[in-house]
Amino acid sequence: MKEREKWSSGIGFILAAAGSAVGLGNLWKFPYIVGKNGGGAFVLIYLAFLFTIGLSVILGEMVIGRATQKNVYGAYRSVSPKFAKVGTLGIITGFLIICFYSAVGGWTVRYMLAYLTTGVSGDPALYFSQFTASPWQSIGCQILFLLITAFIVYRGIAHGIEKASKLMMPMLFVILLVLVVRSLTLPNAMEGVRFFLKPDFSKVTSHTVVAALGQAFFSLSVGMGTLITYGSYIDKKENLQKTAFYVPLLDSIVAMLGGFAILPAVFSFGFAPTEGPSLTFITLPAVFESMPFGRVFGILFFILLFFAAVTSAISMYEVIIAYLVEEKKISRKKAVIGLTCVIALFAAPCALSQGILADFKLFGKTVFDLFDFTASNILMPVGGILMCIFIGYIWKPKNAVEEIRNQGKFSFPLKGIWTFVIKYAAPIAIVVVLLSATGIVK
Ligand code: TRP
Repeated sequence: MKEREKWSSGIGFILAAAGSAVGLGNLWKFPYIVGKNGGGAFVLIYLAFLFTIGLSVILGEMVIGRATQKNVYGAYRSVSPKFAKVGTLGIITGFLIICFYSAVGGWTVRYMLAYLTTGVSGDPALYFSQFTASPWQSIGCQILFLLITAFIVYRGIAHGIEKASKLMMPMLFVILLVLVVRSLTLPNAMEGVRFFLKPDFSKVTSHTVVAALGQAFFSLSVGMGTLITYGSYIDKKENLQKTAFYVPLLDSIVAMLGGFAILPAVFSFGFAPTEGPSLTFITLPAVFESMPFGRVFGILFFILLFFAAVTSAISMYEVIIAYLVEEKKISRKKAVIGLTCVIALFAAPCALSQGILADFKLFGKTVFDLFDFTASNILMPVGGILMCIFIGYIWKPKNAVEEIRNQGKFSFPLKGIWTFVIKYAAPIAIVVVLLSATGIVK
């Protein structure tokens, strides 16, 4: 049999995993949630979750992957056939996420090209609604985004995903720094910084704490086996504890810088902060319009957003591709082509959800919102809980610890705490997020 592919270096894995974590969530959601939920006070709670429960869960996923050297489905099944279904769940989750994520990915492609060629002028809200109302434009851009993603994944682990991440992640970082400097040197920039970070402990309620935890999980992309899959390509000689630590570190740095790049500029020109598509596709274009050399910053910003979206999308793809190649014995090329066709079919209604399908509702939600809600608020947390149960009670922490210690090559000083978090703290915390995100408990 052909030898399984591997990352060519530890840093390759770190950048790919950070690329998966760093996504639209960091840039269009985080700054606003922080500002609305108590600023610096929220950041502290968020970081505390990120580096305790979040980090433990990341390490948990990675160790399953590295120990079994398999795709999500194969990894769970090789230990417990009953748990193979958790792998299936991960694959379904990834599929749903890529469907709506690629719609937004298509918008980033569209804006990037628009800023590069003609610029975006006129009323930004009208511009956005005219673009999304056109089925051909929205679907065309989405397909372009999917093809770029598919091509990278088709090239394989070291030559595709790793190479793309090694190129895009450092560039993303540099662009972000340029935008931060520009934003912070605008008149009245401090007003945005104050909105972003001024600690307000009176705003910290149980709701805030749950929001911080939910954002931490979504931002780290845990709960669907992305890091099981990526972890399965890590060389046995790497120290998993060290590599795992970089993921929340880079993810939170980008999220914080995102806040410094966006909010001061928004406030400086007298706009109100928002989140989601309206922030990135309406408010920010209006900001660029008011700014000297705004078009240059528009180009940079949408390249940044595009890189963030692509490096996340390839990780969702790879979860499914690894499964098709290893379990269904389909060649990588055929798997990528077939998957892209199927995704395009299901993703199209998501791209149309802002336009001609805006009034088509299932369970009271557009197709876009339904996929987002089901995957992000239900399936990801459920997958995360089952992953912890799997390590804590089925596979057993001592086997995981053995893999982390690499047959005694590394010491694992936090072994006791990690085991406690995986067996008790993390599952309980995720249940709380799940209940709140689904609206069962308010
Ligand atoms: N973490 C990504 C972001 O911040 C979103 C995300 C959620 C994701 N689940 C994922 C990305 C699974 C890749 C794979 O935007």
